[in-house]
Amino acid sequence: MPDLEKLLSKNARNMRKSVIRELLKLTTQPDIISFAGGLPAPETFPVEDLRRAADEVFTKHAFKALQYGTTEGDDDLRNELVIFEGRGGVKLALDNILVVSASQQALDMMPKLFVDPGDYVIAGRPTYVGAIQAITAYQGRVLGIPFSPENDGFDMDELERRFGRAVHSRQRVKYIYVIPDFQNPSGICWSLPKRRALLEFAYRNELLIVEDSPYREIRFIGEHIPSIYQLDQEGQNRGIVIGLKTFSKILVPGARVGWVMAKPEIISKLVTAKQAMDLCTNVFAQKWLAEYLKTGKIYGLIENTCANYRAKRNLMIEMFKLYMPKRWDLRWTEPEGGLFLWLSLPKYINTDAMIHKAVARKVAYVIGSAFYFDEPEMNAMRINFSYSTHEQIEEGVKRLAAVITEEIAAHEAGPRGQTQAEI
Ligand SMILES: Cc1ncc(COP(=O)(O)O)c(C=O)c1O
Repeated sequence: MPDLEKLLSKNARNMRKSVIRELLKLTTQPDIISFAGGLPAPETFPVEDLRRAADEVFTKHAFKALQYGTTEGDDDLRNELVIFEGRGGVKLALDNILVVSASQQALDMMPKLFVDPGDYVIAGRPTYVGAIQAITAYQGRVLGIPFSPENDGFDMDELERRFGRAVHSRQRVKYIYVIPDFQNPSGICWSLPKRRALLEFAYRNELLIVEDSPYREIRFIGEHIPSIYQLDQEGQNRGIVIGLKTFSKILVPGARVGWVMAKPEIISKLVTAKQAMDLCTNVFAQKWLAEYLKTGKIYGLIENTCANYRAKRNLMIEMFKLYMPKRWDLRWTEPEGGLFLWLSLPKYINTDAMIHKAVARKVAYVIGSAFYFDEPEMNAMRINFSYSTHEQIEEGVKRLAAVITEEIAAHEAGPRGQTQAEI
């Protein structure tokens, strides 16, 4: 066996393992209450409707569904996506859509297409770990932008400052990666003015925006805000936004189907990139989802899913208020949609170190540091509220609050105890 490490490419050496996927292994013990994964609630999966849709495929399109398909994606599915996006206010033609093997594949295509070693991608601090993984796999770097204290999007002054510094030192910045709707990991939703401001910034600096919106339809409180894709389309229509969508959070993640929305010139480049990756997305799955979409049931399903998550999110926040230590430096976001909230703890608590204590107490979270390309914040965690049952949410928050309470007590007792002894 040759020395594998010597044979690895520079790209491969740069790849990072997903902390979340590693953590998930740790949390598969049956008695652990896991707030770690980004899993949708299985009770929302419309199993019978999907079975009927699969039967329809075998009855009506078996030979097409079992054959290779086009890289761009199945026309039946793309036609359904035109209708689906149209209801959400986005106007598309078939050549604006590329079907992908869920949005993670699209996230890998972006740096594949745009990033040379050392190039920067602007993204949030924190941001989705899968995007960081893809960017680093192509030796790209992330220019991290903190969120504003209002939690309504980037701190635009910091964006100008950090981008200005990068340009001044002749760094190449290629695109802006954002998750404006109920961000993973923070749950933050960008306000309309922030979305407009980012679009203006991108126009002015001739940058592309990659708008990743897996949670867009999962809004359970408040009014929908237009996507940045939509704002460009309805305004100057310069076609600088690439929209990433997926069935993973609105239907089932196991289907592994998503779609990219962009102007045809960009879609054509992505098609070339995808050809070398998988030729085409699973054709059976595309036909299957097209049949399901034709029933029109997805809209009711999304409504039910939102109601389900609203109840879980409310319960989780109620439990936080009840059990978490009450202090100014222990805070959480209160998202209006999506699957996650972000819990910030006193500065001296290291959630990487604390995870082992939490797992020993049979509760799990994702360490906040996983969501930073560099200079991670160590005192935060991502909490998922979609997957657990109500009973698990109540019990899990109790366990987590106990671990945090102990950490705070240990810190406060430690130095004081020492000081007293010294005195
Ligand atoms: C922001 C974001 N983008 C992309 C993905 C990947 O989703 P999928 O590949 O299942 O479509 C996720 C999954 O959690 C996510 O949170």
